[in-house]
Amino acid sequence: MDGNGRWATQRGWPRVRGHKEGLKSVEELLETAPDLGIKHFTLFAFSTENWKRPKAEVSALMTLFRFYLRNFLSQLKAKRVRFHHLGSLDGFSASIRKDIKALEAATADHEGMVFHLAANYGSRLELVQATRRCLADGLKMDEINEEAISTRLWTAGVPDVDLLIRTSGEMRISNFLLWQSAYAEFYITDCLWPDFRTPQLKQALDEYSRRERRFGGL
Ligand code: IPE
Ligand code: MG
Repeated sequence: MDGNGRWATQRGWPRVRGHKEGLKSVEELLETAPDLGIKHFTLFAFSTENWKRPKAEVSALMTLFRFYLRNFLSQLKAKRVRFHHLGSLDGFSASIRKDIKALEAATADHEGMVFHLAANYGSRLELVQATRRCLADGLKMDEINEEAISTRLWTAGVPDVDLLIRTSGEMRISNFLLWQSAYAEFYITDCLWPDFRTPQLKQALDEYSRRERRFGGL
């Protein structure tokens, strides 16, 4: 979800207005993505590194996050979308932690698309924690394999990434799903996140469908 700040700055508006507009993209895409055949939809909203931003921006993002958690249950219900938080709960206020758990619980029996919201997510932290869990579970050296690690990530049980879309033209992965994106197809667009709506998603899927995936084979 990159480019909110630039979207607002280009218009002479405060950055937070871009974050608010970006939420409209989230709302629209959650409505249309299931109809486009997407089973798992992950949005990178806030990284473990984003806490370094100015206090006022972090606090505006938390307010928006809380607003989402408290007001979007009806949309998730209507579309039978299951909400799943991806990331660490450490660092969030007690009330946000409670709201995350509540939204997950309230949508747990939804059989439609899964919406993974990566918030306070960092791939390296996830891998460090998974490694620690291997030790805590008493795994022997020869029991540490890809499955042992995969099943201890926050994405345990979730299929690997097929298509990774990066908005706002940045050519980097920014600590996002490093393990899970090993064979992901990349799609980079200059479109800023608030402008990334259904037609843009369709275009990305269209290009993805023309890619030939070989997973290291011929
Ligand atoms: C939104 O875009 C992503 C978040 C971390 C909330 P940015 O805030 O990174 O926007 P730009 O990159 O400054 O345009
Ligand atoms: Mg950015």
